[in-house]
Amino acid sequence: RVIPVILCGGAGTRLWPLSRKNFPKPFLKVGAESLIAQTVRRAAAVAKAADSSDVLLVSNESYQFLLQDECMPVLNSEGGNMALHQLLEPQGRNTAPAIALAAQWAQARYPGENPVLLVLPADHLINPVAEFVRVAQQAVAAARKGWLTCFGITPSTPETGFGYIQQGAPVDEINGAFAVQRFVEKPKLELAMEYLASGQYVWNGGMFALRSSDLLQALENNEPSVASQANVVWASAKESKNAKASGSVFTFNKDEFAKLPDISIDYAVMEKASNVAVVAASFQWSDIGSWAALAEQCTPDTQGNTVQQEGAGQLISIDSNNTHVRLSNRAVATLGVENLLIVDTPDALLVADRSRHQDVKKVVETLKAQG
Ligand code: GDD
Ligand code: MG
Repeated sequence: RVIPVILCGGAGTRLWPLSRKNFPKPFLKVGAESLIAQTVRRAAAVAKAADSSDVLLVSNESYQFLLQDECMPVLNSEGGNMALHQLLEPQGRNTAPAIALAAQWAQARYPGENPVLLVLPADHLINPVAEFVRVAQQAVAAARKGWLTCFGITPSTPETGFGYIQQGAPVDEINGAFAVQRFVEKPKLELAMEYLASGQYVWNGGMFALRSSDLLQALENNEPSVASQANVVWASAKESKNAKASGSVFTFNKDEFAKLPDISIDYAVMEKASNVAVVAASFQWSDIGSWAALAEQCTPDTQGNTVQQEGAGQLISIDSNNTHVRLSNRAVATLGVENLLIVDTPDALLVADRSRHQDVKKVVETLKAQG
């Protein structure tokens, strides 16, 4: 059995001012559908190919109904009587705890079966779906042999916002899978440049295929505080029915949840465990992690300028180069500027040097610090 687990947690601070508490990144529309709707479509495709009918969403409790409204039409249109289950977090504690709870859920729902979890971030852009399904099946095959399996993306820039994977020897009997020699999460720029130049590294695509027991064991070995507190939190779980989505809904004790260590799966497990593998992701992939990534989805004019039209506003661009503007309802004029990111929203405006796209999160940190 394969259970897609969709992580829909982070507010996406690098997309400020757009991506905020009330409008998290997965709800961003890119192309015809929101990123989360596209993710559910992919998840359903893999589940159906594996004869499974569950999709599990792990998100903040405040998105329970927003997510149902966004996901159910997609699941219904994919057919196959898919059920949408939800684990509702009172607060975000990062991906290691979120995935640990998903593993607990899977163990409890299918005792003794040890299902494979296919962990998918809700904010990636991936095409085509058929190719994704093919690669996911390779990853699932490796997971069935006990590998914690990542998806390797051919790197194009020394991006510091990603994990870097050094590929080792091929995995016996699993076509296209390699043991991971080294996993380095978010290296410093110098190191990232070295890795890129070496030609030996791929980016970690942020998706994982792993058996629930292997994940819980790896946490116990490498980050026992997450494993033990996840046990406590799972013991506090309360189940209710999800009338609209035919699945189950779980909530947790708030105080116990707050004690979960705030750590990502990459630092907690992938950097440390010895049974990590990687399959080559041969599909188009983009982590819509920053304004630069969104700009790349737009078609540039001859000066490399791009525009994202989200309202009635007009762009007047004169002698400007390599500048991305996201319009809302106001007119925006750029005059003799280059390499900027300009994001206009009704109540906040971002003007940033394009090369600083990863640092937009500092704006959010500063705002938070100022209360
Ligand atoms: N439910 C839940 N709860 N989801 C969460 C939480 C949480 O507390 N924290 C993060 N998530 C979700 C995010 O919404 C996103 O969909 C996914 O988990 C990954 O989190 P990010 O915060 O976006 O991670 P990242 O982009 O910095 O790094 C990861 O992804 C990169 C590729 O996109 C790592 O896995 C990197 O190694 C990888 O290269
Ligand atoms: Mg991300």
